[in-house]
Amino acid sequence: MTMKMEKGPVAVTGAGGYIGSWLVMKLLRGGYTVRATVRDPDNMKKVKPLLDLPGAASHLTIWKADLNDEGSFDDVINGCAGVFHVATPMDFESKDPENEVIKPTVDGMLSILKSCRKAGTVRRVVYTSSAGTVNVEERQKPEYDESAWSDIEFCRRVKMTGWMYFVSKSLAERAAWDFARENNIDLITIIPTLVVGPFITSTMPPSMVTALSLITGNEAHYSIIKQAQLVHLDDLCDAHIFLLNHPKASGRYICSSHDATIHDLARMIRCKYPQYHIPQKIEGIDDEIQTVRFSSKKLLELGFEYKYTMEEMFDEAIKSCIEKKLIPPQTEAIPEDGKLEVTREQVDVVKPIMTGAKEDVPIASH
Ligand SMILES: NC(=O)c1ccc[n+]([C@@H]2O[C@H](COP(=O)([O-])OP(=O)(O)OC[C@H]3O[C@@H](n4cnc5c(N)ncnc54)[C@H](OP(=O)(O)O)[C@@H]3O)[C@@H](O)[C@H]2O)c1
Repeated sequence: MTMKMEKGPVAVTGAGGYIGSWLVMKLLRGGYTVRATVRDPDNMKKVKPLLDLPGAASHLTIWKADLNDEGSFDDVINGCAGVFHVATPMDFESKDPENEVIKPTVDGMLSILKSCRKAGTVRRVVYTSSAGTVNVEERQKPEYDESAWSDIEFCRRVKMTGWMYFVSKSLAERAAWDFARENNIDLITIIPTLVVGPFITSTMPPSMVTALSLITGNEAHYSIIKQAQLVHLDDLCDAHIFLLNHPKASGRYICSSHDATIHDLARMIRCKYPQYHIPQKIEGIDDEIQTVRFSSKKLLELGFEYKYTMEEMFDEAIKSCIEKKLIPPQTEAIPEDGKLEVTREQVDVVKPIMTGAKEDVPIASH
C-alpha cells in the first residue's frame, strides 16, 4: 500500500545528529538518493560516519545549511521529492533561549517550507516533532494522543529543564501547520517520545544522556524518565520512511512503542546489567507512580508495526556507548562479600561525560 515514489532525491536536515544519521543509513539501504545537511561539512567528526555508510559513495551528498540563515536550504531542497526535517537546536543551557533556541527552530522550520514551495518538486515534508509538543502541562493525563498540545504558557512560567526546547518545538510545529495549510504543502509530523537504541555518531546523543541516567547517576534527568515513553531509533526511522510514502498518511503521528515508569526501567536495567549500580530507592519519586501512555493507535492503524522490545533498545544503546567509550563497561565493583557499591573513581569517569561537561553534549529530553 505504498505510493509509487521515485527513490529520491530526499533531503535530511540535521544528518550529523543521532536520528538524522541513522535515517540517512536506512534511506541509503533502501536505495534512496540522499542529500544530507550539516552546519559544517568540514567537521569530519560528524561527517565521516555518514561518508563511511554503505552506498554513500554513489548515493549521498553533503550540503551546508543552517536554520539561522533564511534561504539556506534553497539549494539542497531544489529538485528533492521528499524532505525530512530533523535538525533542531538542543542547547538547554543557552543564556539566550529566545534567540538561540526558539527563534532558529521556528524561523528554520518556515525557511525550509519556503524552500519547498520555491522548489516545486517536493511531494511531501516529514517533520520530526517531539513529545514535548504534546504533554508538557501542569497535570499528566493517563493517556495522550495526537489531539493534545503542550501548555506553552506553563513552560514559560515554570521554566523546567528543557522548557525552551518544548516551546521551540511547539511553536515550530504550529507554525508549520499554518504555513502548510496556506501554501498547500503535504506535511506530516512525527512525534517521537524518548528515542533509545544504537547509534553511528561519535559523540553522546542527547537522548542517551537521559535514557542512561540511571546507570550514570545523572539525577537531573530522573524527572524526565519518571513517567517515560520510549521508541527504538530503528523503529522511528522506519516510521519516517513509512510516512513519507504512505498515500493515506495525514496530520500528526505519535511514534512510541513502550510506556514505563522510572521504577520499571530501574528494575529492568538492574536485572539485565548487574555490573551497573542502579539506585534501589529514587528520592522524591513515589513508588506507586503510574505510567503515562502515548498512543500510537493512529500510526498502527495505517499499517506500521514496531519491531523492537524495550530490552533491545537498552541493550543496543548500552553496547554503542561502551564501544565508543562514552560510558564505562561497569560502575559496580562486585566485592567478594556480594555487597554492591560504586566507587568514587567510576562515578568520576562517567559523570562529566553524561552531564555534558566533557563531550559537547546538551541535556536531552523527549
Ligand atoms: N532523541 C530523542 O529522544 C528525540 C525525541 C523526540 C524528538 N526528537 C527530535 O528529533 C530531532 C533530532 O534529534 P536528535 O536526538 O537526533 O538530536 P541531535 O543528535 O542533537 O541532532 C540534532 C541536529 O540538529 C542540528 N542543528 C542544531 N542546530 C542547528 C542549526 N541552527 N541549523 C542546522 N542544524 C542544526 C545539529 O546539526 P550539526 O550536526 O550541524 O551540529 C544536529 O546534528 C530533533 O528535531 C528533536 O526535536 C528527538
